Amino acid sequence: MTRRTVISGGGTGIGKAAARRFAADGDSVVIVGRRPAILEAAAAEINTALGADRVTTAAADLTEPDQVHALAEQITAGGPVDVLVNNAGTFFERTPDTLSGIAAWYIDTYRTNLITAVLLTEALLPHLIRPGGRIVSVSSIAALRGPGPYGASKAALHGWSLGLARHLAPQGITVNVIAPGFVPATEVWDDMLTPEVEAARVAGIPLGRPGTPDEVAAGIVHLAAPDAGWTTGQILQINGGDLLGRG
Ligand SMILES: NC(=O)c1ccc[n+]([C@@H]2O[C@H](COP(=O)([O-])OP(=O)(O)OC[C@H]3O[C@@H](n4cnc5c(N)ncnc54)[C@H](OP(=O)(O)O)[C@@H]3O)[C@@H](O)[C@H]2O)c1
Repeated sequence: MTRRTVISGGGTGIGKAAARRFAADGDSVVIVGRRPAILEAAAAEINTALGADRVTTAAADLTEPDQVHALAEQITAGGPVDVLVNNAGTFFERTPDTLSGIAAWYIDTYRTNLITAVLLTEALLPHLIRPGGRIVSVSSIAALRGPGPYGASKAALHGWSLGLARHLAPQGITVNVIAPGFVPATEVWDDMLTPEVEAARVAGIPLGRPGTPDEVAAGIVHLAAPDAGWTTGQILQINGGDLLGRG
């Protein structure tokens, strides 16, 4: 049976790679982000490659409750949801020198990396199939080793997901997290990637290379699979061994 999968941040990077894989498996996929043109281009690219219209788009700023409410009504008008992938998020590079600047930096980062997932999940939860529903959220290796508000916001995603996993288990809904390491071929790195940064990052990875969006997407698809129903409350690190350090 065709599953309905919703992916936030599905127009670029890891989310787009996940959309491609879910759609290739036959799912009906809704990709969500703030920029309609980016979403539409991603959907067209995937649909053309598959020769089937499996990916549709819905634009919303997921930090805004009213927009999330309207988005959920739009999505669920088409039926219940089987899989929710909370992938939207980004890194805010700032070095504020006032307390109000630091507060704004943390608040913006939490809104983008945590509140987007909380709002979309709360809005879609009544429409998630049970038993069998799947929630997969994308955090980061930064959740375990910083830096600053980005790592803290991703760690908050871990705590929230573990609580949700306990809460939803009796209803047959699983909740898991993917924590990627360095995946440079995405927009999150657009303004930050220099050859020096890339070399420094790769130097710490035992497998000796960056990851790809597709390698992270493979983990998302695995945790969302129909036969992954006894896996919940897990945080899967996909990072080339980065947390181990080089021997
Ligand atoms: N790449 C890495 O090295 C890496 C490592 C660890 C974790 N991650 C995490 O992986 C996830 C995917 O990132 P990526 O690397 O694939 O980078 P990306 O290409 O920048 O993807 C982020 C996506 O999130 C969407 N988004 C951001 N804010 C949003 C909002 N308020 N409402 C709706 N959508 C929003 C963006 O679309 P719009 O701008 O159009 O809204 C974009 O499609 C993120 O959570 C990121 O923190 C990435």
